[in-house]
Amino acid sequence: MNNLKRTDLEVYNSVKEETKRENENLELIASENFVSQAVLEAQGSVMTNKYAEGYPKARWYNGCQYVDVVEALAVERCRQIFGCEHANVQPHSGTSANMAVYFAMLKPGDTVLAMDLACGGHLSHGHPHNFSGKFYKIVPYGVNRKTEMLDYAEIMSLAKEHKPKMILAGASAYPRSIDFEKFRQVADAVGAFLMADIAHIAGLVAAGLHQSPVPYAEFVTSTTHKTMRGPRGGFIMCRQEFAKKIDSEIFPGIQGGPLMHVIAAKAVCFKEALQPAFKTYQRQIIANTKTLSDELAKRGYRIVAGGTDTHLFLVDLSSKKMTGKDASSILEEAGITINKNIIPFDTQPPAIASGIRIGSPAVTTRGMKEEQMVQIARLIDKALSAPQKERNIREVKREVTGLVKRFPLYEDLLKRL
Ligand SMILES: Cc1ncc(COP(=O)(O)O)c(C=O)c1O
Repeated sequence: MNNLKRTDLEVYNSVKEETKRENENLELIASENFVSQAVLEAQGSVMTNKYAEGYPKARWYNGCQYVDVVEALAVERCRQIFGCEHANVQPHSGTSANMAVYFAMLKPGDTVLAMDLACGGHLSHGHPHNFSGKFYKIVPYGVNRKTEMLDYAEIMSLAKEHKPKMILAGASAYPRSIDFEKFRQVADAVGAFLMADIAHIAGLVAAGLHQSPVPYAEFVTSTTHKTMRGPRGGFIMCRQEFAKKIDSEIFPGIQGGPLMHVIAAKAVCFKEALQPAFKTYQRQIIANTKTLSDELAKRGYRIVAGGTDTHLFLVDLSSKKMTGKDASSILEEAGITINKNIIPFDTQPPAIASGIRIGSPAVTTRGMKEEQMVQIARLIDKALSAPQKERNIREVKREVTGLVKRFPLYEDLLKRL
């Protein structure tokens, strides 16, 4: 990065420090991951220069022959991974993907049945301050108070009562698997469209380790940067009959020129997801998450919904007399990065929260396995058990440093910085 260093030392230094931060800490934020060098190279390529409004072979601008190749590859690989009829890889983000489906299929004021943010749903599904909550009538469904899991009978009765035009299945902080087939039954019972947002679980779905919504939902949206381990971005899958509507809602509906460098990186991410090693990686994510969750449970932490089937879980800290906000700050000091998270029926506001959300995709990318998860659970417990003792935090931080050194990340990049 000599050019960057010469041109803009402030930005160079921030990139350098961020690379070091990612390398030197234990990254347990469930929605984050570490992309491959190949993804970084594609995303950092000259494809950022190209305007390509439209779609492959139907662009507004000339000179699109090479960007056409990468977009067609991304679409084809996406279809191969998920077995969908149509894919649009242009959404700039998961939120844009969701917005395109809402705008394409709903009229302002239409009713959408979507997961309550307080129980694990996402802002772009229906938060009052988001486009979704401003333009549509959102009926939230939650989880069962006792099991903290989705209650399909309750979802069915809400659907029958409110007759939504669309039902959205998918979440940001739900640790258990989602039964898309049951959601289809609910949608059919009331004549609603079914939309699935697999932003978090896409990698597990791609590897066949979580039920796929593709056979059940008319629309499936996702991000590429969480368990998929690709560049920051979104994509939409749908049945052929809706392809034109979705494509024209992305462009010219809500976006202008696509980010061709990001689409190139999405194509690389999809190629990586088609390799046998990707399945092994996703299997390890599930095994690691379960081990970490079980080990914390053994140490007296209450795990929301009694455990996990996925890449993430939630810890209720109320019995430890600690808030999510405090726990996340203490862990950050100790070199462990997680996020505070409200838990179902939380009595704390979101900025304080009674829980934390923990995920293993990033540490699994570094090559960590069950043995390291046992160690990490011990470190989390040690940091949270005597947070007022500075020496305690220092000791945890020292052990974190030793642990991450054994699982190097972006070594080549660091050498060249
Ligand atoms: C379920 C779900 N959908 C959509 C999104 C939005 O993705 P983005 O941040 O790319 O807009 C997220 C992000 O966390 C998410 O968890």
